[in-house]
Amino acid sequence: MKKIRMVWAEDSTHAIGKNGQLAWHLPDDLKLFKAETMNTLMVMGRTTWDTIGRPLPGRTSLVLTHQKDFKTPYDDVIIAHSVDEVLDYIEKETRDISIAGGAAIYHAFMPYATDLIVTRIDVTIAGDTFVDAIDLSQFKLVSATAHDKDDKHDYSFVVERYERQN
Ligand SMILES: NC(=O)c1ccc[n+]([C@@H]2O[C@H](COP(=O)([O-])OP(=O)(O)OC[C@H]3O[C@@H](n4cnc5c(N)ncnc54)[C@H](OP(=O)(O)O)[C@@H]3O)[C@@H](O)[C@H]2O)c1
Repeated sequence: MKKIRMVWAEDSTHAIGKNGQLAWHLPDDLKLFKAETMNTLMVMGRTTWDTIGRPLPGRTSLVLTHQKDFKTPYDDVIIAHSVDEVLDYIEKETRDISIAGGAAIYHAFMPYATDLIVTRIDVTIAGDTFVDAIDLSQFKLVSATAHDKDDKHDYSFVVERYERQN
């Protein structure tokens, strides 16, 4: 069955970003993001699109914006203007779906998510963009994998995987 996978990284306060950017550089978390979004229709808000700035190889980007005249220079980027329009694309899509943020997008699509992949980073960034806490009556933790701080990673982190229960 088609998965709708939400992928994000957060600090100790559920912050996911600061000043329109990620507040950390963790190469192994970027690899995880790549693996979890590869061969999917990747849904994101316009601000997150701006931070990525281009379609990522092996994925189709779907950008949500209220701007009716919003365009990108790329033929293969889909633009949608409402959550319902995105749900129509999701319905027709045969590949898995990944939800790549930011905050409003995670919030809007949480009711449809089948899987959550959450990187919990051992840092507090004084961020300005936050995700909701996971509703554990809806999702069950199925694995947690720790990653130590090292010369390429300024912070340690844990990757948690959740599956929808109901
Ligand atoms: N840590 C992580 O895993 C992660 C992941 C993704 C992003 N981030 C961070 O999060 C921040 C960006 O997130 P954000 O929450 O500020 O922005 P966002 O969700 O990426 O984009 C918000 C924009 O999406 C559009 N939008 C949202 N809901 C819509 C709807 N229902 N209908 C139509 N358009 C809609 C609007 O675009 P218009 O203004 O064009 O109308 C809105 O301004 C950055 O700091 C980024 O680095 C972190």
